Amino acid sequence: MSQEFKLDLPIRPRRLRRTAGLRAMVEETVLRPADFIAPLFVIDGKGRPEPVKSMPGVSRLNITDLVKECRALAKLGVPAVALFPKLDAKLKDADGTRALDEDGLILRAVRAVKKAVPGLTVITDIALDPYTTHGHDGVLTPAQDDVDNDRTVGILCEMAVLHAEAGVDIVAPSDMMDGRIGAIREVLDIADFTGTAIMAYSAKFNSAYYGPFRDAVGSAKAAGTNVLSKATYQLNPANRRESLIEATLDVAEGADIVMVKPAGPYLDIIREVRDASTTPIAAYQVSGEYAQIHAAAKLGWLDYERCRHESLLAIKRAGADLILTYFAKEMATLLSK
Ligand code: PBG
Repeated sequence: MSQEFKLDLPIRPRRLRRTAGLRAMVEETVLRPADFIAPLFVIDGKGRPEPVKSMPGVSRLNITDLVKECRALAKLGVPAVALFPKLDAKLKDADGTRALDEDGLILRAVRAVKKAVPGLTVITDIALDPYTTHGHDGVLTPAQDDVDNDRTVGILCEMAVLHAEAGVDIVAPSDMMDGRIGAIREVLDIADFTGTAIMAYSAKFNSAYYGPFRDAVGSAKAAGTNVLSKATYQLNPANRRESLIEATLDVAEGADIVMVKPAGPYLDIIREVRDASTTPIAAYQVSGEYAQIHAAAKLGWLDYERCRHESLLAIKRAGADLILTYFAKEMATLLSK
């Protein structure tokens, strides 16, 4: 019976999947090295690279090694790096004072990279978490029970100007304070840095996927806990409309690029923001997304290379123009062959 079964089907979508050639012709999303931004961790001194245990293949680099890594990335066609400092615990305090140190680690790193690889776009994080003993992205209220929005924005404005002076191409406020994009745009313009762009962490969720990053910059350890709650400023993972409010505000306040973060678990948000706005969208495939692919592959439960590719393809397909990912170098190596 089943042998004689025939459908009268004029439309058969499988026709275009029949051969590798046909499948390639109708492929809708293609990854290229220029899609990626490589996040890099920088440390002071002349020490050897410090591997981050929960992020296989990722190390904190001293400035000399950082410059080498940046050269290699540029050569592979990766257009940009996002730099994050890891400070010595003894340099941290409750107000994150070292964020405004005129000879601070991150500023020295920016100057060195821009000097050695001028064509590489350099992005820096604007937030206080690498600098505070409590690990929060801002300074606390007098009652010490929340992050003080407006006082934090004032400090972030000063920080952004210092970074612009050091030659950074894009500042990326990742703090989620209200009104910070407009305030930073205004001080940059007043200081004549009209050409310094802002990539706003707009839809940044209060996510458990940041765990390995907090190991990397030491912000969880500084706070003495792994369950540091940023719930009063980062978005509730249950909310979709709220991410649109944030993205719309950031664009109105002057953001040149808006970001969704994490990426993989928030593909619906990437698509939502894409449909609602014409601004370029960056998505951050965060440390935990990277770590879980590594961990499952190590157990032999997932195919590392295929999952790496598929995870990034999905983020681009959802509508991201740019992807911050710890896979940037590996992917660029693969794609530029
Ligand atoms: C904080 C910041 C975080 C990340 C980038 N900037 C973590 C946090 O909010 O605690 C996370 C990146 C990652 O997990 O890869 N300013």
